[in-house]
Amino acid sequence: MRNKVTVVGAGNVGASCALRIANKELADVVLVDLVEGIPQGKGLDLLESGPVEGYDVQITGTNDYAATANSDVVVITAGLARKPGMSRDDLLFANYDVVKGVTQQIAHHSPNAILILVTNPLDAMCWTALQVSKFPKQRVIGMAGVLDTARFRTFIAQELNVSVSSVSALVLGGHGDTMVPVVRLSSVSGIPLTELLDEATLDRLVDRARKGGAEIVKHLKTGSAYYAPSSAAVEMVESILKDQKKVLPCAAYLQGEYGIHDLYVGVPVALGANGIERIFEVKLLPDETAALIKSAAAVQELIAALRQKTGV
Ligand SMILES: NC(=O)c1ccc[n+]([C@@H]2O[C@H](COP(=O)([O-])OP(=O)(O)OC[C@H]3O[C@@H](n4cnc5c(N)ncnc54)[C@H](O)[C@@H]3O)[C@@H](O)[C@H]2O)c1
Repeated sequence: MRNKVTVVGAGNVGASCALRIANKELADVVLVDLVEGIPQGKGLDLLESGPVEGYDVQITGTNDYAATANSDVVVITAGLARKPGMSRDDLLFANYDVVKGVTQQIAHHSPNAILILVTNPLDAMCWTALQVSKFPKQRVIGMAGVLDTARFRTFIAQELNVSVSSVSALVLGGHGDTMVPVVRLSSVSGIPLTELLDEATLDRLVDRARKGGAEIVKHLKTGSAYYAPSSAAVEMVESILKDQKKVLPCAAYLQGEYGIHDLYVGVPVALGANGIERIFEVKLLPDETAALIKSAAAVQELIAALRQKTGV
């Protein structure tokens, strides 16, 4: 049996996800969008790359959720992206409506799927999808930490002029300006980062990682990042479909872990065929815990605003 992945939203992130899934031959892909013609056109264009690239998967573009039935994994990228001067949180109410509608369709047609949320504000959109789908929490996961960590790793590698493959890092917390790059647990081939870089440099890299999304938005002016975000989402898809159980920082629904209750926050998890198979609770120092709690409080504020506006 071939795997089936639906990507909702055939915009920049969604189409890039479809391309990366096809390139890796992970699954047949169904690309869905609200706008007529866009998923059909991009889907066909992607399919026609197959003979040259050497991939052999089906790629279908559609506006009809019937075609998504029985997907193994669904990546939700539908919604508005930020423009310069906007924060991710400015997208809250508009994207709530989008993610709610999409999730209703997906839950109906693919009741056993694992959902990977990409739409911002990420942690609040995960919460929305969990509420609407009523799926178990293990099957509703957010992509943010893999991207934030990739950005942090990139900046560390650039600073030290070493291969990025030697850099491992950890970013916890919500996907916003309060995210928590944990310097103490980041290293270069096991050498603690704190031995390689002085505090001022580390602070500068942490700050750049935190604002990594805004840096791209500022350059692009008309949208937000999509190459690295799609790479990050597809690493999660791959770990699930191949049951790799990779340990990746993802937005997970916490119910007491890290002292956080009923909120999506980025933490290290093992991703396998069942979705989130384990949440790793890392012992944090007091200042790291404080930063994580502050980040969770920012997510909580968005959920409170959503509850107030929607009555959920
Ligand atoms: N989690 C992350 O780290 C991360 C990273 C990058 C982007 N994002 C978010 O991902 C989302 C998509 O970004 P993008 O750059 O691809 O935007 P985009 O504008 O290029 O694409 C969004 C697509 O969603 C479609 N869409 C809108 N409403 C829909 C609906 N109800 N049903 C189906 N499709 C619908 C639009 O027609 C459009 O094609 C944004 O919210 C962005 O902020 C998150």
